[in-house]
Amino acid sequence: MQKNIRIAPSILSADFAQLGAEIAAIDAAGADYIHVDVMDGHFVPNITIGPAVVKAIRPFSKKVFDVHLMISPVDAYIKDFADAGSDIITIHAEATPHFHRTLQLIKSLGIKAGISLNPGSPVEMLDNVMDMVDLILVMSVNPGFGGQKFIMSQLAKISRIRQMIEDSGRDIDLQVDGGITPETAKLVTQAGADVLVAGTASFTGGPAHYAENIRKLRG
Ligand code: DX5
Ligand code: ZN
Repeated sequence: MQKNIRIAPSILSADFAQLGAEIAAIDAAGADYIHVDVMDGHFVPNITIGPAVVKAIRPFSKKVFDVHLMISPVDAYIKDFADAGSDIITIHAEATPHFHRTLQLIKSLGIKAGISLNPGSPVEMLDNVMDMVDLILVMSVNPGFGGQKFIMSQLAKISRIRQMIEDSGRDIDLQVDGGITPETAKLVTQAGADVLVAGTASFTGGPAHYAENIRKLRG
């Protein structure tokens, strides 16, 4: 069942010089999840933050820490991100041929497991992990950078995955990440998404605008 729309601001668009204060501000403005984009300069062409930073910012919000790992290899870092305070760890299906094992590893640590697909990846990659994931993340841009344009072809993918979730009978978040604005937010929720990641659209204008930014995304 499609649940209430939740907004997951990506801190990639926050002011990194004051990350703790930024997280406290976006929490107070109504964020549901805090989305943390982890990039390695290998799986994606950008480098961001590691587990030490996740640990340092964790005390600034009690909201769900939704950690999106765009790294390969990934297994060696899962425990560090779990120990740092992640509530959900999402990995990319393309990042390792053994993503089933990686999902098992995340679950064994007692936290939620997510799987993400790049825009070019087919929904069939999810077929054999529907029984173990808590979140499916559809990338609506090619991962690596904030501020890119939403790729429209992903709407059909969202609808297909919504159907797969209904068929599974399981409680799985359907998250979309990349190019989310008040306009595209409407399209993805109509297609069946229920967790919207938004970097630029959440943090634009500075802290005085965060509550209004989030309100507009809820539609
Ligand atoms: C892209 C990241 C996204 C990104 C979204 O690789 O996974 O979370 O920060 O940024 P916007 O909302 O600006 O497209
Ligand atoms: Zn992300």
